[in-house]
Amino acid sequence: MSPFHYKNGELYAESVPLSAIATDFGSPCYVYSRAYLEQRFTEYTEALTGQDHLVCYAVKANSNIAVLNVLARLGAGFDIVSTGELERVLSAGGQPDRIVFSGVGKTAAEMQRALEVGIHCFNVESEAELERLNGVAASMNVIAPISLRVNPDVDAKTHPYISTGLRDNKFGIDIERAPEVYRRAASLANINIKGVDCHIGSQLIDTSPFIDALDRVLSLVDTLASMDITISHLDLGGGLGVRYRDETAPVTADYIQAIREKLGNRKVTLMFEPGRSIAANAGVLLTKVEYLKLNDHKNFAIIDAAMNDMIRPSLYDAWMDLLPVQPRQDGVLRHYDFVGPVCETGDFLAKDRELCIQEGDLLALASSGAYGFTMSSNYNSRGRAAEVMVDGDQYHLVRARETVTDLMRGETVLP
Ligand code: LLP
Repeated sequence: MSPFHYKNGELYAESVPLSAIATDFGSPCYVYSRAYLEQRFTEYTEALTGQDHLVCYAVKANSNIAVLNVLARLGAGFDIVSTGELERVLSAGGQPDRIVFSGVGKTAAEMQRALEVGIHCFNVESEAELERLNGVAASMNVIAPISLRVNPDVDAKTHPYISTGLRDNKFGIDIERAPEVYRRAASLANINIKGVDCHIGSQLIDTSPFIDALDRVLSLVDTLASMDITISHLDLGGGLGVRYRDETAPVTADYIQAIREKLGNRKVTLMFEPGRSIAANAGVLLTKVEYLKLNDHKNFAIIDAAMNDMIRPSLYDAWMDLLPVQPRQDGVLRHYDFVGPVCETGDFLAKDRELCIQEGDLLALASSGAYGFTMSSNYNSRGRAAEVMVDGDQYHLVRARETVTDLMRGETVLP
């Protein structure tokens, strides 16, 4: 159930009216629900009862350390793609041996740091990366645990920018070539083969591409067994879609059940890397109407959140719901484009929405908990938004709004 609901004519997050958060911390402001994050994470672990598993939350979706800490307390693992994400997980109390490291461009320094803290596994995305990792591990006199991220060449049928499992995408190793690369990995002195990994894309509403990918991955596992390469885990990545508008999002338990059935009695640990399905609907972006600009042919509502705060509508043409925090019973219903103060025509958060609003009204952009703050920038020298976490009837500032000093940190003029 959504933690965002109307009560006494206003929008609440759990037991807290969003208007109270705006009064205390201003806008734009991200608001997250602890209970919802916990619920969505637990759906994975409960569906995996009786099966060895590790659910590694994809940090890129929302990397605030309060979010990571809430999940770490539930025993979550983490999927990271940089040293920055690694250090966030560690400072949030995540366990190093539950971390997997994905990404096509790991540097030697990043590999070194991950080996130093003892992560669970590197998801290796290319042959060149495998060789480099072996070298770095050798120089430290340690063994690097790896899985190969294979590219199963299935169409995830999602937005082209977030589809990753096609041969034409930069991700992973062609599944046809994988046995050869595994053989090479097995011959390297400082590499220990742990598993097979794949991630085919994000925001999948139809789960059949996951099942197709699993079929291909399982046949690879059987090929590897015939080569005397035994793997101990299967990492199926993230990608489960959520409801933004009217999609019928897959139910986590059904998805996991379908995978468990396919797996049969193979003795492997099942791993997942969910991001969006845990965080997206745990958050909203709270924003205020600055001006109404009524033209003959089009109305604009200029709001204080912009593409630098939330880029999904501009970048992917994503549709995200926009909810009035204190809906008005009086006044004129009009169609508006909701645009930010950034100097770009592409700066919009919602288009052609019919709402009854006035200057100063608060709005909540729904489903903003994933790929919201983490994709924000300082474009137009706008400080990044505050982040707040609601916990029952309490709420806590978990990231202060950026100040002008923050904006210029590290910059100097010439002597
Ligand atoms: N694992 C890997 C290797 C990934 O690349 C990703 C996401 C995930 C896991 C998590 O996928 P999820 O469960 O969140 O679908 N910025 C885009 C989404 C980019 C996804 C990138 N990779 C958006 O806002 O829609």
